[in-house]
Amino acid sequence: MGREWLADAVMYEIYPQSFADSNGDGIGDLRGVIDRLHHIASLGVNVIWFNPCFASPFVDAGYDVSDYLSIAPRYGSNDDLAELVGKARERGIRVLLDLVAGHTSIEHPWFQKELAADGPAPEGDRYIWCEELPVRSWTRDMPGTPAWVRSPGPRKGYYLKNFYDEQPALNFGWVGAGPDEPWRDPIDGPGPLRNRQALRDIIAYWLDLGVAGFRVDMAFSLVKDEELTQGYAETVELWRELRAWLEAGYPDAVLIPEGGEPRTGGSLAFDADFFLVIKDAHASLFNNQYAGRLPFQEPREPFFDAEGKGSTRPFLDAWAAARDGHPDRPIILATADHDFDRLCCGPRTADQLGTALIFLFTWGNVPCLYYGDEIGMRYLPGLPNVEGSICNPGYNRAGCRTPMQWDAGPNAGFSTADPSRLYLPIDPAPDRPTVAAQEHDPESTLAFVRKLIALRNATPALGTRASTRVISEGYPLAYVRGESHLVVLNPRREPATLTVDAGEPIWTSGVTVQDGEVKLDGFGYGIFTSRSADAA
Ligand code: NOJ
Repeated sequence: MGREWLADAVMYEIYPQSFADSNGDGIGDLRGVIDRLHHIASLGVNVIWFNPCFASPFVDAGYDVSDYLSIAPRYGSNDDLAELVGKARERGIRVLLDLVAGHTSIEHPWFQKELAADGPAPEGDRYIWCEELPVRSWTRDMPGTPAWVRSPGPRKGYYLKNFYDEQPALNFGWVGAGPDEPWRDPIDGPGPLRNRQALRDIIAYWLDLGVAGFRVDMAFSLVKDEELTQGYAETVELWRELRAWLEAGYPDAVLIPEGGEPRTGGSLAFDADFFLVIKDAHASLFNNQYAGRLPFQEPREPFFDAEGKGSTRPFLDAWAAARDGHPDRPIILATADHDFDRLCCGPRTADQLGTALIFLFTWGNVPCLYYGDEIGMRYLPGLPNVEGSICNPGYNRAGCRTPMQWDAGPNAGFSTADPSRLYLPIDPAPDRPTVAAQEHDPESTLAFVRKLIALRNATPALGTRASTRVISEGYPLAYVRGESHLVVLNPRREPATLTVDAGEPIWTSGVTVQDGEVKLDGFGYGIFTSRSADAA
């Protein structure tokens, strides 16, 4: 079977804190997910990706791991994960975990041991320490603070962080190690080699327990200085070596990077590229910047917006670049994720999401549905900083991490805890969407998403393996899939018209076909069998 299954994946991202709380402590847990597997399966998805659920002090929502081999007690136990993996598999669903490869928590025993030492470990340091602040220092652009952190001691000097101060970078060596900076270990130094081995041990442990692979956090942050030069050759080489090892022992296991895999020539180590929600290719389509604007984001009008001022060009160019030389490369596009906003954000209402959802499930990408987007949950602005959700002023991730809204019961059925103990507040809107309210409503977002995924799963031409040919890149957006299906989307409020010889309608809304023209009302869409499907 190998790793081919990823091309047919329809993913579902679960932020474990916020999905379902089975023990009433106000925070989601694995038992809660087990109890809701029927809902996940009913969507038609076949892969779950969990954000980190390992032991952690949760300074960065679990992206600060203190023990890679233990499920955080608040989520349950390793046995619970094994049960979840088994029960999901019975429903044809694989489970991916999140591998935080570039850093640990300061509470990890590895870090505590080196912090307590009075100098470098004889067997090689797992972290990067220097006694004097390096002359050539830099700032991590996210979250915009100095990269070196003064050691709280006893160890003297500074350590290098990877994200927040509480996330010290693991030592995978440096490009350009030099005698004037002896703390720059070469990539095959003893410390870096220990960490490479640790990655294998962690990966093997969870694969042996039954998981299907990993999303790798900050996958290209490992060998230092490469982010500065944007070269990444040595980090990619490290992952290639790991891939070869996986190939021998775990040929079915997939690795998905956070973001795109840098092209350094030669084979690719990862199984897909992930178009990040915060990066321009995705943001230019969907992000209306109500969650803030990051320093590197272009001030754009999103294409899938009622105003109709956006462009698909940044996305189309990025897509073409990712496929250049790798025409079959799976590319993951998510509805949203735990790091930014949701599709339903700012002025965009749930009933305007149709065209965006159809695009995300018919373009030819591997789709990833963020929990709650199947019912049109809103991004909630102005929430407090919980577990590092506020990265910098004006950028708050809490709004896309609020509890799943299940039903009309207390706390929307998420938890029996007192509301003051909830991980984050529930959307207070009286008309907030819930699974229960939408369950049997054929006009609901939930029914729409189920129908869309069912259509995709039943139609190879709408999947990742079929060709995609754009025939109109503006309003409306129109493309032919597999030379057999035509998709026409008008995300704006104003109507749009396309001259095209459409075939039989499969699924349309707000569409009139007449005299070789497809007329779309505002927010209208159509999926047709395609006849010749060339825009005239
Ligand atoms: C990317 C993750 O998606 C984000 O949530 C986290 O804060 C950083 N990496 C640091 O691990």
